[in-house]
Amino acid sequence: MEVVIAPSADAVAALAAEIVARAVSTSEHPVIGLATGSSPIPTYQRLIDLHRSGQVSFTHASAVMLDEYVGLPRGHRESYRSVIRREFVDRVDLAVEQLHSPDVHSDDLAAACSAYDETVVALGVDVQLLGIGGDGHIGFNEPGSSLVSRTRIKTLTAQTRDDNARFFESVEEVPRHVVTQGLGTIATARHLVMIATGAGKAEPIATAVEGPVSAICPASVMQLHPHVTVLVDEEAAALLRLADYYRHTYENKPSWQAL
Ligand code: GLP
Repeated sequence: MEVVIAPSADAVAALAAEIVARAVSTSEHPVIGLATGSSPIPTYQRLIDLHRSGQVSFTHASAVMLDEYVGLPRGHRESYRSVIRREFVDRVDLAVEQLHSPDVHSDDLAAACSAYDETVVALGVDVQLLGIGGDGHIGFNEPGSSLVSRTRIKTLTAQTRDDNARFFESVEEVPRHVVTQGLGTIATARHLVMIATGAGKAEPIATAVEGPVSAICPASVMQLHPHVTVLVDEEAAALLRLADYYRHTYENKPSWQAL
């Protein structure tokens, strides 16, 4: 796992966008994993800028989403599919037909979860962007999630519903159920890129990166993956015990070694 402590949230976004742009430019049929939440928004903005200046094209790319709410009307503005289209897909040349997300309106939700899991694995994700919840969740894998779980229905914790209430009129409107790629599904991506900025992420980041691998902090499953880049700003890095070592490593990174 490589931890990069960047001077600002903007610098974090620039690094994350660079990783995605490189993957998209070097693969014939790149597959990118998109995360929602506010953390990756500046990264999407960077990618949109790179696209507008002709430095990256997504015409041959596909995208898979991590998770989706269950119970919102189709096309609801806060459904994750709507958010990811608004914030990224509709603003670059990625065909909307190539944006994959779980069919949360299916009459057979369990079958839809399995089908989505198979799609994600068959496509083969090159780079998966991840944020981290205040309780250490990734996607919507709440604490207690099996470290080898697959795409399935989950029930949100009270903390996650409170955290996400800012996108709705009130906390009562935040759905209780979601479909999320499992931790085992997420781990099939070739490269995991976690983006965390701000003081509120200091504790979950320290627990995920330096704590024990445990279902109580689902993001700690990253420690078992062979290629993980954790991009944090100074505030999110505040509780990392090995911060000086991570800085030293990055400053002395061989020029031939990419992120
Ligand atoms: C939601 C999403 C996660 C995201 C988390 C943190 O729960 N399902 O994918 O990482 O929010 O969001 P934010 O980046 O806004 O703190």
